[in-house]
Amino acid sequence: MGRNFEVGRELFKVASCAACHKLSDQGKEFGPDLTKIESKFFNTAHVLQSIIDPSKKIAEKYQSHSYLLVSGKQLTGMVIKDTPDELHIVVDPLAKDKATVILKDEIDAEKKSDVSLMPKGLLDKLSREEILDLIAYVMAKGDKKHKMYMHEHHDH
Ligand code: HEC
Repeated sequence: MGRNFEVGRELFKVASCAACHKLSDQGKEFGPDLTKIESKFFNTAHVLQSIIDPSKKIAEKYQSHSYLLVSGKQLTGMVIKDTPDELHIVVDPLAKDKATVILKDEIDAEKKSDVSLMPKGLLDKLSREEILDLIAYVMAKGDKKHKMYMHEHHDH
């Protein structure tokens, strides 16, 4: 309650969240749409935990994979496109060149990776107040009219 909407919204961009997440009218849909977090997980503890330790729990759809190519090259990332011959893999979601294309014929071995593509340490440079504003913004689903932002006045 009583958090700053504008600060939360700004931090969503500044702390890179918008580079991978959609929320309200902001952001790109690489990671999960944050307005659609499963209701049983939609609580501040889960949201905070997801940011502090992204690899602790990774939804199947966002699981990253490691590939060992015939050439000996290795890469880890998330498949965003799967055609009969090719895989399009995002290795570094924050880089400009979005996807690396590999031929399925080139793949020697493949395994699931336990590491999330969401970087750790995103909150490290933020103050306590900023972190609270950012979490509130996520919990309000980017909605300025959310009841969390309504200041109640009690006359006693
Ligand atoms: C480089 C891309 C990237 C950035 C930057 C990023 N995330 Fe994520 N995020 C992901 C991916 C991919 C997942 C899904 C895998 C996982 O859970 O780790 C995820 C998962 C989450 C989840 C869990 C969602 C669920 O459905 O349970 C939350 C909450 C979240 N991110 C919030 C944030 C916030 C807030 C920021 C900014 C501080 C942020 N993320 C920055 C990629 C990113």
